[in-house]
Amino acid sequence: MTGPEPHAPTGTHTVSLHGFPFPLGTETRTLTWQPRALRPGVLNLKSCELQHPWSEELVGRELAALSLAETLAYPVQDHALAQLAAYHGLDRTHILLTAGSDYGIGLVVDALVRPVGRLLLQEPAFEAWRHYAQLRRVHVTGVPGTTGTPPAADPAPLLDLLRSTPRPAVAAVTNPGSPSGLRYPPSAMRQLARTAREHGHLLVIDECYGDFVHTSHAPLVTEFSNVVVVHSYSKTFALAGLRIAALLAHPVLREHLGRFRPENAVGAPAVALLTRLVPQGDRWREIWRDVRAIRQGFVDHVLAAHPDWRVLEPGANFATFWSPDPDTADAARDHLAAHRIRVRSLSDVPGLRGCFRVSLADRPQMRRVARLLDDVTDRATPPTAVPLPAREGPPPDARPS
Ligand SMILES: Cc1ncc(COP(=O)(O)O)c(C=O)c1O
Repeated sequence: MTGPEPHAPTGTHTVSLHGFPFPLGTETRTLTWQPRALRPGVLNLKSCELQHPWSEELVGRELAALSLAETLAYPVQDHALAQLAAYHGLDRTHILLTAGSDYGIGLVVDALVRPVGRLLLQEPAFEAWRHYAQLRRVHVTGVPGTTGTPPAADPAPLLDLLRSTPRPAVAAVTNPGSPSGLRYPPSAMRQLARTAREHGHLLVIDECYGDFVHTSHAPLVTEFSNVVVVHSYSKTFALAGLRIAALLAHPVLREHLGRFRPENAVGAPAVALLTRLVPQGDRWREIWRDVRAIRQGFVDHVLAAHPDWRVLEPGANFATFWSPDPDTADAARDHLAAHRIRVRSLSDVPGLRGCFRVSLADRPQMRRVARLLDDVTDRATPPTAVPLPAREGPPPDARPS
């Protein structure tokens, strides 16, 4: 690479393509790009795809039933939108499909944040928010969404920021949180929506894991015209590989977002499969209930072996553990990695020091992971100054079985 060329447009740096100089935008220079890699023989409990035998059976059956016609032609979304309107309890004029919510977040940043230039971000949040904001040269103000040790959900910093930021801005919040697994109650979400509206801001809610824990923000979209919901079907409908999600928004916002033509990135098999899976709500609810039962058994086993650890509730198809020893998170990750299991240590995530996240697979696998975690020891258990919160949910009744 060479230095800036005399005639390079501002905000660019000139690269040499085998001697051919060309200016590229500087916004990518500090961003990383790491395509996913195949890791044969490794159990991935890091990226939270739904791994459950019943969802595999359900999706596999519907996938096998897809006709060639449903995959060869450009997709028509009418039928899917009708199903989704019933599912989310919204008119279809509120629903826009995107190729995954990662893409949807990029679209929100392009279409809604870039013109106002300011993103208020409750953190920790999905990495895509800051990534796309930097690509679009948008200023980000981050505020913590958790407080204390063990971490607890805290909407106050975002509320304060909404009140103190000159209008208009776009605020983003994830509920239930990821990677924390903590959840704001409906009253807090309504307060965020109301406060954003009073101060002239849009509020975007990423509810990627909502269905696992009975949490939907779709009703807020009709109540508050300034609310946009990002709803992924990757995790709850086990469609991560198909890349499909929806933005739920006021029809005027939806029309504006639609002019960026996100449907051109959504493939026909994804639309067809989603259309077949959405109406099977009863089966999905059974699956999500069983995911919660697997989580409960796993958590009970881990906490029985580590009485000083805590789990952040309600979680989703993952469990985020906190240990009073901040080094335990990396130790747990490394111990499981030695057994070819990938989980995420959160020791470098502000607000989640001492935490690590384990996404869930089937019972036998989680039983094995729980047993491996038995061997992880805290270096020393420092005295905990803060009283430990009561755990949510029914009393422990079973180990993973
Ligand atoms: C909170 C959150 N939002 C959005 C996404 C992106 O999901 P997808 O692009 O698969 O819809 C993820 C994926 O891990 C996530 O954890």
